[in-house]
Amino acid sequence: MGDLGKGYKLVFLGDQGVGKTSIITCFMYGKFDTSYQATIGIDFLSKTTRYEDRTFRLQLWDTAGQERFKSLVPSYIRDSSVAVIVYDVASKQSFINTSKWIEEVRAERGSYVIIVLVGNKTDLVNKRQVSIEEGENKAREFGALFMETSAKAGFNIKPLFCKITSALQGNE
Ligand code: GTP
Ligand code: MG
Repeated sequence: MGDLGKGYKLVFLGDQGVGKTSIITCFMYGKFDTSYQATIGIDFLSKTTRYEDRTFRLQLWDTAGQERFKSLVPSYIRDSSVAVIVYDVASKQSFINTSKWIEEVRAERGSYVIIVLVGNKTDLVNKRQVSIEEGENKAREFGALFMETSAKAGFNIKPLFCKITSALQGNE
């Protein structure tokens, strides 16, 4: 019999253009696209992944950062096990804006939810505006996990999802 594994909902949040869709695309297909196609509304993808001999069915909800879609987001936060909150390390403002997402997720889901703060675009070395320490400190302050990634370089994308499945396993 096939091992379908347990299903978990992950919601991806964060400003427009920080790389939410690119992180998901890199994880799913190992691809990266430099052209920007804004997510319209919410996209859904499903992926089965293995971690320490267990199968996990991850349901990925990719939200749009654009302001006009904000009203769609709360209902996706409500029934998620994991909130992946992404900023661009080359954009201070996108980092500042993660606070309101973290607060909203905590208000809605309390301590049941696993929050992962992700600083993406580490390949933009000369444009960096947010240090790794600032990211780590904020994550610690909010009781969140932390990871820096580059969807472009394929850096830390698999480890990000390993960290998530590991945390899901630990939460049971
Ligand atoms: P919305 O759907 O509008 O909320 O944006 P998003 O967060 O899904 O961003 P998306 O993944 O569409 O990426 C936006 C732009 O940033 C695209 O042009 C990507 O190619 C680029 N991008 C994404 N990740 C990286 C990265 O790690 N490094 C660099 N240099 N560019 C990236
Ligand atoms: Mg997108």
